[in-house]
Amino acid sequence: MVAETLHPSRVRLFSPARAWVRRVLVDKLREAGDPLGNGAVVMEAFRYAMFCLLVLMCFGERLDEPAVRAIAAAQRDWLAFVAKNPSVFAFWPALTRRLFRRRLQAGLDARRRQKELFVPLINDRRDRKKQLSESAAAAATAATKKDTTFEHAYVDTLLDLRLPNEEDGHDRALTDDEMANLCSEFLTAGTDTTSTALQWIMAELVKNPSIQAKLHAEIESTCNNDDDHDEVTEDDTHAMPYLKAVVLEGLRRHPPAHFLLTHKAGEDVEVGGYTIPKGAAVNFTVAEMGWDAREWDRPMEFVPERFLPGGEGDGVDVTGSREIRMMPFGAGRRICAGLGVAMLHLEYFVANLVREFEWKEVPGHEVDLTETQEFTTVMKKPLRPILVPRRNQTTPTPH
Ligand code: HEM
Repeated sequence: MVAETLHPSRVRLFSPARAWVRRVLVDKLREAGDPLGNGAVVMEAFRYAMFCLLVLMCFGERLDEPAVRAIAAAQRDWLAFVAKNPSVFAFWPALTRRLFRRRLQAGLDARRRQKELFVPLINDRRDRKKQLSESAAAAATAATKKDTTFEHAYVDTLLDLRLPNEEDGHDRALTDDEMANLCSEFLTAGTDTTSTALQWIMAELVKNPSIQAKLHAEIESTCNNDDDHDEVTEDDTHAMPYLKAVVLEGLRRHPPAHFLLTHKAGEDVEVGGYTIPKGAAVNFTVAEMGWDAREWDRPMEFVPERFLPGGEGDGVDVTGSREIRMMPFGAGRRICAGLGVAMLHLEYFVANLVREFEWKEVPGHEVDLTETQEFTTVMKKPLRPILVPRRNQTTPTPH
């Protein structure tokens, strides 16, 4: 995943996909409409957009809305099962599998449904790969088959993988079950995390109109105040230090994951006078680290300027290889595999959403930063702003 699909050269290939999802998202936000001026809840559109993008990166195909929603429903059912039954079936399975037969059936049904949806998409990539390797003519047909098919997909890398088979000494390919599992993980890892971060950042921009205005000024000056400059591109975002600062400050103040996936001590270690015994489950208080008043001035305030040159967070190392002052993506060997693409998605969507709309607070639906724990740490009261279009409306995008 890291060496291929999430490698910067491949991530670049998905720029038309990001542009398509941006248009879908903007259309959805416009559609959400607001005739009574009560504001629109935006989180569902954020989640749908991120999911569309991840589905496309996973299967290399631009699917229509019913197909994306079917996959999303299967993912939701599977996650609901996993969240409710973390260890029930690990304990005395012969008994618990009988005792909780119906629960287990729901999990198996969700898995089956995922597979029914994923395997035809995996097979399409398998056929394409075969065609591409057959003859120049077949390759040309495969390459131009549909304008919804993308050059690269995460699934391609899974089809190429060979696992050593200890029994007969021959390598083997992944099974469909294994591929479906890995696709499911890919979709889960990149959707809620990114859409949650996006909601927190946009909430802070609604709450702090002067920060939003400063960001908008940076965006417009990078796009030369040119309305025909259709989108803020990935290259544009590289020239926007304030945009990067807003995203980093969002991740420091509101990390979507307050804890990491659980780690385990590989050997007895001494940390700050405590012995952590080999095999102990270990986790890290991610949010508290970013809120540490010994490290950050006024830590609970949203101050992107701290990440600008000369600020206290200038050059902060989010990978944790030099220092750890914030770690929204974890650190070390098991750091988030999608760190680079997550930062890109956040910068790209924040910039384009601020360019497209002015995000304003609605009286009676003020931004409330209270948190609640779901799969990630989300806003208890979802963001509900008024979106005032800043640009002329374009024709809706097919999706
Ligand atoms: C703002 C968005 C994101 C945040 C805050 C985030 C955060 C995290 C965190 C905290 C971990 C656990 C690290 C640890 O246990 O040490 C993790 C793991 C992971 N993330 Fe992300 N993530 C984001 C987006 C993404 C995206 C877009 C993808 C893929 C497209 C992704 C793929 C993964 C994978 C595969 C792992 C497991 C890595 C491993 O166990 O080796 N993440 N992420």
